[in-house]
Amino acid sequence: MDTPSTTAAEIAALRTEADLGLGGRVAIVTGGGQGLGRVFAKAYAAHGAIPVIADINEARGAAVEAEIRSANHRALFVPTDVADYAAVARMADRVRGELGRIDALVNGAAIFSTLKKRPFDEIPLEEWDRVVRVNVSGVFHCCRAVMPAMKGAKYGRIINISSNTALTGRPDYLHYTTTKSALLGMTRSLAREVGKFGITVNTLMPGATETEIPRETVSPQLKAAIVANQCIPRPETPEDLARVVMFLSSDLSRFVTGQTIIADGGLAHV
Ligand SMILES: NC(=O)c1ccc[n+]([C@@H]2O[C@H](COP(=O)([O-])OP(=O)(O)OC[C@H]3O[C@@H](n4cnc5c(N)ncnc54)[C@H](O)[C@@H]3O)[C@@H](O)[C@H]2O)c1
Repeated sequence: MDTPSTTAAEIAALRTEADLGLGGRVAIVTGGGQGLGRVFAKAYAAHGAIPVIADINEARGAAVEAEIRSANHRALFVPTDVADYAAVARMADRVRGELGRIDALVNGAAIFSTLKKRPFDEIPLEEWDRVVRVNVSGVFHCCRAVMPAMKGAKYGRIINISSNTALTGRPDYLHYTTTKSALLGMTRSLAREVGKFGITVNTLMPGATETEIPRETVSPQLKAAIVANQCIPRPETPEDLARVVMFLSSDLSRFVTGQTIIADGGLAHV
């Protein structure tokens, strides 16, 4: 884990030039214990918002909370299994109780970096069920649990983290790409239900993005092929995505809802 001074510099670098008006806002980042979610949590802190790290991994979630606090920003870690609705409801209650509001929800928690690629007919049935439970039902649970707070405030920003593999397809990854495709339908339908309450719901599709967590699913050859097929031919970074998450959390995107934002350097187009 980084030292406090490195973290403070990293957090400062995540601040965009525009004033996004996120000061004092409370943003739940599921999967905030590592990888992309960890950077999203820091980006909220950089903009004066209070990130809530909701993650099943207690050691990592607590470490991200400590990291952000050590740089003199507020943060709250709430251990949460998004697959368990009761646990998610308790998390949302605690956030409202301790911080008084829920302005944004980033649904980033997923079974992803631990997933093995295998032909679809070799995916164990229990693994299929668990991936669907976490990657799809988990998002539904979190959207549902934050709704009373967002409806009450007549304001909310929901950002569902999908993947550009939902558009391009990827072999030996059927459970993952199926769940990430499901988020498109969920986003569009939910956006239609909650727009009247001032709540926007959008899907963000990242491309392959390296984080501090090693992954077997992207070989060096695949990584090179991905970059070669992008319009902007350089590897994607978590900071590229954090900027879009901040935009979708802010007033700048107030009339953008039900949309799919692909942030992958122009690899996939719709
Ligand atoms: N990194 C990429 O290249 C990439 C590309 C496209 C999409 N995505 C998506 O972005 C999101 C984050 O990616 P990442 O690279 O940081 O993934 P990651 O696997 O490193 O992190 C996932 C996080 O989710 C948490 N988590 C897993 N199951 C959970 C559960 N049941 N309840 C609560 N938390 C749980 C893990 O503990 C972990 O902190 C994922 O939704 C992933 O599908 C990532």
